[in-house]
Amino acid sequence: MDKMVIEGGFPLVGEVSISGSKNASLPIIVSSIMFDNFDSEIDNVPDLEDIKTIKKLLISLGAEIKKTDDANKLIINTSGIDNYDAPYDLVKTMRASVLVLGPLLAKYKRARVSLPGGCAIGARPIDFHLNALRLLGATVKVDHGYVEVFADKLKGAVINFPIPSVTGTENVIMAATLAEGTTVIKNAAREPEIDDMILALNNGGANIKRIEPSVISINGVKKLNRLYHRVIPDRIEAGTFMVASAITKGDIILKNLNVNHLGSIIEKLSEAGAKIIINSSSSIRIKGSKVIKSVDISTAPYPDFPTDMQAQMMALMTISCGLCVITENVFENRFMHVAELIRLGANIKIRNNFAIVKGAIKLSGAEVMATDLRASASLVLAGLASSDGLTAISRIYHLDRGYEKMEKKLANLGAIISRVKENDISALPGEESNFNDIACSKSA
Ligand code: EPZ
Repeated sequence: MDKMVIEGGFPLVGEVSISGSKNASLPIIVSSIMFDNFDSEIDNVPDLEDIKTIKKLLISLGAEIKKTDDANKLIINTSGIDNYDAPYDLVKTMRASVLVLGPLLAKYKRARVSLPGGCAIGARPIDFHLNALRLLGATVKVDHGYVEVFADKLKGAVINFPIPSVTGTENVIMAATLAEGTTVIKNAAREPEIDDMILALNNGGANIKRIEPSVISINGVKKLNRLYHRVIPDRIEAGTFMVASAITKGDIILKNLNVNHLGSIIEKLSEAGAKIIINSSSSIRIKGSKVIKSVDISTAPYPDFPTDMQAQMMALMTISCGLCVITENVFENRFMHVAELIRLGANIKIRNNFAIVKGAIKLSGAEVMATDLRASASLVLAGLASSDGLTAISRIYHLDRGYEKMEKKLANLGAIISRVKENDISALPGEESNFNDIACSKSA
């Protein structure tokens, strides 16, 4: 397993290009199951472990992923699908695999998917998905760790989500796309990744409208034509690099993003003292301030502050000039990064779903362990801010699930960061560092 080794304390300066959105790519890729008349072409897909996993899953169903000379372009032919089972060994590595339920049910009226099981951040049940599919006319059976859905036909229905669910909304949209009649989803999630999927499906012949901010209507169609789409930029990657500038008191220009998706992140970072200049709808400049103000954070569904940015903001608050409260309202166990941040010198206390963060004078390097995707990003950010000694982050396979070429992008901004094999680290803070022997450089 690889480790990331960081020598922090340097301001990040320069330009970074934001990759395509992981959480828009995943539903759009599986929606290709419903388009079997032509090759589906999806562009600006980030080259990530989670994308590799969903490609493996499609291939296991019988789809063909065609070779392209562009790692960010997928060409998928699903006419050969003859298997409707998503196995445990794939689903357990990525719970978003449950997104195959909707398109398989829509197209083939059957699917059998391993229950995803929990993950580091929570139990993450899929009851909302299954109740909605039942309302559309599917029979749902759950046994031996698998959920099996099948239907003679699917008919439009009114679906009312108890709380907004991103992949729940996406699964229902796909299941309803080829159903008879109209489906209305109330309390639908509002994340922009859902609207990107809706755009892709409508350009391919579907008839879906967001008729109110939290209400989506789907008029079922008989068939679709071609899926041909360019995925929106990843707003969480953008937010992560914005925090990288703020936490290192740097000056970074971010390109190829969508400013309209960053409202709550821009607001919070400005409140914390960062200077944010909006260059255009696809580019912003963010300069870190000498004094980082403590700001309270409370996560909630879009358009409020995203839970996927909570760990990154906590890293910033660990070197703020006061005390703040970070409230995690979406997932029940999304503070796994706290113990690791404390190892770097942070002063954080957890009470239920609140974390009370008292700004430390400075962080110092240490060996830490990534526990989930956004926690690993938080540790990278804290490592970049640790001016005393090296930070070595183990289990960075979590990071590779959601960030494309992160160490290369950070090194291009002046970070001293390197990916090394587990046993390459002999020196850590306070010991004679063999850091210079490790292939690290200011420019990757
Ligand atoms: C999506 O997960 C994202 N993943 C997550 O991003 C993100 O954190 C989450 O939405 C919230 O924004 C993808 O889009 C692939 P939910 P999802 O259903 O859809 C509860 C990342 O870092 N719930 O919106 O699984 C659930 O437990 C990942 O990129 C039920 O109780 O999340 C949670 O408390 C992490 N029953 C809340 O709803 C259900 O059937 C919101 O979850 C479904 C959800």
